[in-house]
Amino acid sequence: MRQPSPAPLEPADKNWWRDAAIYQIYVRSFADGDGDGTGDLAGVRARLPYLVELGVDAIWFTPWYLSPLADGGYDVADYRTIDPAFGTLAEAEKLIAEARERGIRTIIDVVPNHVSDQHAWFKAALAAGPGSPERELFHFRTGRGEHGEIPPNDWISEFGGTPWTRLDDGEWYLHLFATEQPDLNWAHPAVRQEHEDVLRFWFERGVAGVRIDSAALLAKDPALPDFTVGRDPHPFVDRDELHDIYRSWRAIADEYDAVFVGEVWLPDTERFIRYLRPDELHTAFNFTFLACPWDAELLRAAIDDTVAEHAPVGAPATWVLCNHDVTRTVTRYGREATGFDFAAKAFGTPTDTELGTRRARAAALLSLALPGAVYLYQGEELGLPEVEIPLDRIQDPMHFRSGGTDPGRDGCRVPLPWTADAPYAGFGSDTEPWLPQPESWSSYAADLQSGDADSMLTLYREALRLRRTETGFGDGPMSWLETDPAVLAFSREDGLVCVVNLGEEPAELPAHTGVLLVSGALDPEGRLPRDTAAWLRN
Ligand code: GLC
Repeated sequence: MRQPSPAPLEPADKNWWRDAAIYQIYVRSFADGDGDGTGDLAGVRARLPYLVELGVDAIWFTPWYLSPLADGGYDVADYRTIDPAFGTLAEAEKLIAEARERGIRTIIDVVPNHVSDQHAWFKAALAAGPGSPERELFHFRTGRGEHGEIPPNDWISEFGGTPWTRLDDGEWYLHLFATEQPDLNWAHPAVRQEHEDVLRFWFERGVAGVRIDSAALLAKDPALPDFTVGRDPHPFVDRDELHDIYRSWRAIADEYDAVFVGEVWLPDTERFIRYLRPDELHTAFNFTFLACPWDAELLRAAIDDTVAEHAPVGAPATWVLCNHDVTRTVTRYGREATGFDFAAKAFGTPTDTELGTRRARAAALLSLALPGAVYLYQGEELGLPEVEIPLDRIQDPMHFRSGGTDPGRDGCRVPLPWTADAPYAGFGSDTEPWLPQPESWSSYAADLQSGDADSMLTLYREALRLRRTETGFGDGPMSWLETDPAVLAFSREDGLVCVVNLGEEPAELPAHTGVLLVSGALDPEGRLPRDTAAWLRN
């Protein structure tokens, strides 16, 4: 159970990750320190006091390495170099140390499934030609058809279309994501060795954890067979070979007391939980919860499934409402189809942002009261909505690979508003940011919200403060209280109660001795209005 402590970020706390509040920084859009329109490490360093005041335990950086940014940095050209647009390695080291001095740990993103087509290995493989050992680090194949003009198999890229690209020499290479992201061959010992070295490289620099990108996709059936529905094992998802890889990673992390969080999207609970066995990953993102519509019955089931599936392996659950890949929470919850909105986004979907904001406030209190760790995505604490980016400014490859039908993920990556009356809402200087901000952006600025008792920022600050100073939050048991089916109410230890009303009618509060926090005002009868949450002490 989480204990209150006068020094809330006790460095010796080895179990910090079991109940941490972790803030995701999409570097390019967080804060621009050098005034070129792109966020950078200088911007993050300058904003560390903001993160301290917000009250987070750790920051997770999306990839900050050298990259042509064909997929926002998830196309890594060199793991040991910081992209010059963001800063230098020395600056990253400084940032890790400065954050740690302020009690904030650093988690970095490692992208083992693929590299950039500008990575030295891939350039060497192209130069060395068919049949070369350099090509064995990737998946090169000849095509099918009389002239090899048909891709080697029928797989579909995660971004749409075939995941194969043909070279002038006639061979094809595999890329489960964009063309610029060739997949590595994880059956090759050099690939394993390199990643183990990369982990050590960053752990040596004080990194406390690693987020593993596309963690369930690395291993491929060496025959690269066609995909047949129901084929077991799947030719590239969740293959058994992965567990051996992660066991060796875990041994390295244990030398440094570092932790992993896996991006493991698997609908099969039993398969998912295998990644969290005690000698594998410490945690994985909970996409069941993220994908759940704003519906009491469905949320209750998602929470129950999460808690039940984690229990046998002793791993803490994680709770996440949004990230750099999905529609922002206030927009998602303000739409008719309130569910997960990742692959099936559409332009111009009607949205009730006021309703979405009310629900997002309640969802914040819900997720912060559940047992385990919680992830926040930059701008969530400001209540930012999804932005519809003008067509000629879209950069996300997902948009282009969908044939232009999917707006892609840029709408949740718009540079943050810091100062209401500064150019570009204080993102950096008077240079226009890399993605355009909408007119309304300055009304969400952190400085405006800072002084406003009713703002989203104030709600998050207060909730995170209570989560740290009050007992009952974080890791530990929870039990449901009996309520109307449209109301979610559960208790934690020491009489802590969280109640969320997802019904139409106001709900009576369960028995309590005090109200710690509400996401919106109670009605004159002291009842909890619809789409509102409260933390109580009983
Ligand atoms: C993950 C990342 C996403 C990226 C993809 C390919 O899903 O979160 O942003 O595009 O992997 O690396």
